Amino acid sequence: MTRYKIATIPGDGIGPEVMEAAVKVLRALEDGGGIGFDFVRLEAGDGLKGRTGVALPPETLDEVKRSDAGLFAAVGETAKEVILPLRQRLDLYANVRPAKAYPNVPCLKDDVDIVIVRENTEGLYKMVGDRGPDWGINVRVITRRASERIARFAFDLAEREGRGKVTSVHKNNVLDKTCGVFLEACRSVAASHPQIEYEEMIVDACAMKLILAPEKFDVLVTTNMFGDILSDEAAGLVGGLGMTPSANIGDENAIFEPVHGTAPDIAGRGIANPMAMMLSASMMLEWLREDDEAKTVERAVMRVLKDGRVRTPDLGGSAKTEEITSAIIQELIKI
Ligand code: NAI
Ligand code: MG
Repeated sequence: MTRYKIATIPGDGIGPEVMEAAVKVLRALEDGGGIGFDFVRLEAGDGLKGRTGVALPPETLDEVKRSDAGLFAAVGETAKEVILPLRQRLDLYANVRPAKAYPNVPCLKDDVDIVIVRENTEGLYKMVGDRGPDWGINVRVITRRASERIARFAFDLAEREGRGKVTSVHKNNVLDKTCGVFLEACRSVAASHPQIEYEEMIVDACAMKLILAPEKFDVLVTTNMFGDILSDEAAGLVGGLGMTPSANIGDENAIFEPVHGTAPDIAGRGIANPMAMMLSASMMLEWLREDDEAKTVERAVMRVLKDGRVRTPDLGGSAKTEEITSAIIQELIKI
C-alpha cells in the first residue's frame, strides 16, 4: 500500500466545508486497501490573519513543501497573500484548468471539453508595481524561460491526453513586447510537436469564440491574467464554479484547488457544491500516478450527476454538501 502525506489548507468561507467533503472521499478510498493518506491540516487566510496578523505563515509553506501534494480550498481577501505566494515561491508554474460539460448540469453547450493551461508565476501577477495618490502601475513581466516551460507543459499534456490542438492566446497586436516573447516561445515548442495542430488567437476574440464555438477548442495555453479570466469564463460555460477543478504544478511540488473562491454569499449554510474540490483531489491522485484511484473519484462524481437526484442549489437542486458527499461515497464504494 502506498501512503501519501497530503497538506490541506481549508482556508475561509466555504473552504473548510468543501475540504471536509473531499477528505471524506479520500478516506473512503482508503477502505479499498490500496492507498492511504496522512493529512496535515494547515492554516492560512483571512481568519488566520485576523487572529495573528499573518495570512500565510512560513510553517504552512514549509509543510506543503515537505508533503507529497497539497489540497487548497479557498481564502478570501488574502488570496494575493496566500495562493499567489504559494504558487510563486513553490514555483508551481503550470495552472491546469479543465472545463468539461457534465451530465445534468445546466450549461451553455454540452460538448465542451477543454483544458486551459495558464502560466502561473509571472505576467501581471508578478506584483511588480507602484502606487501614488492618483496613479498606479502594474508591470507585466514575461520571460522566455517561463513561456517555454508552460508551452512545453501544454504540448506534453495534449500528447498525454490524446488531444489534437493547442491554441496559444495572446494580445500581441497591442502588448507586442511581452506577448512577442510568449508567442516566440510557443512557436518554437510547437515546431517540435508537428503532430499537434497549433493555432494562435487574440484574447478578446478567444473570449467570444469560447461562448460561440467552445467545441472548436482543445488545449489553450496563455499568460497568467488571460488564463485567470478565460478559465472563469470556461467555468461559466460548463455550469459554474462548483464544477471546475484545477492544479498548480511545478517540478517538485503541486497544489490542487477548485477554481472558485470562498463564496461568502453561501458560506456557513452547508450548501456549497463540493464537486470542484473533489475533482481537484482526483487531479491530485492523477499527478501522484494513482490513475485508478483518480478515475474512481471522477466516476463516482459522474454517477451522482447522471442519476440527478442529489444536487446542490447551484445545480438546481436542494441537497446539502453532506448529502451529496454521502451519495458520492456510496457510489465510490460500489466501483
Ligand atoms: P467565488 O468563487 O467565491 O463566488 C462566485 C459565485 O459562485 C458566488 O455566487 C458563489 O456562491 C458561487 N460559488 C462559488 N463556488 C461555489 C461552490 N463550490 N458551490 C456553489 N456555489 C459556488 O468568487 P467571488 O465571490 O468573486 O470571491 C469571493 C472571495 O473569494 C473573495 O474574497 C476572493 O478574493 C476570494 N477568492 C479566492 C480564490 C482563491 O482562494 N483561490 C479564488 C477566487 C476568489
Ligand atoms: Mg480567478
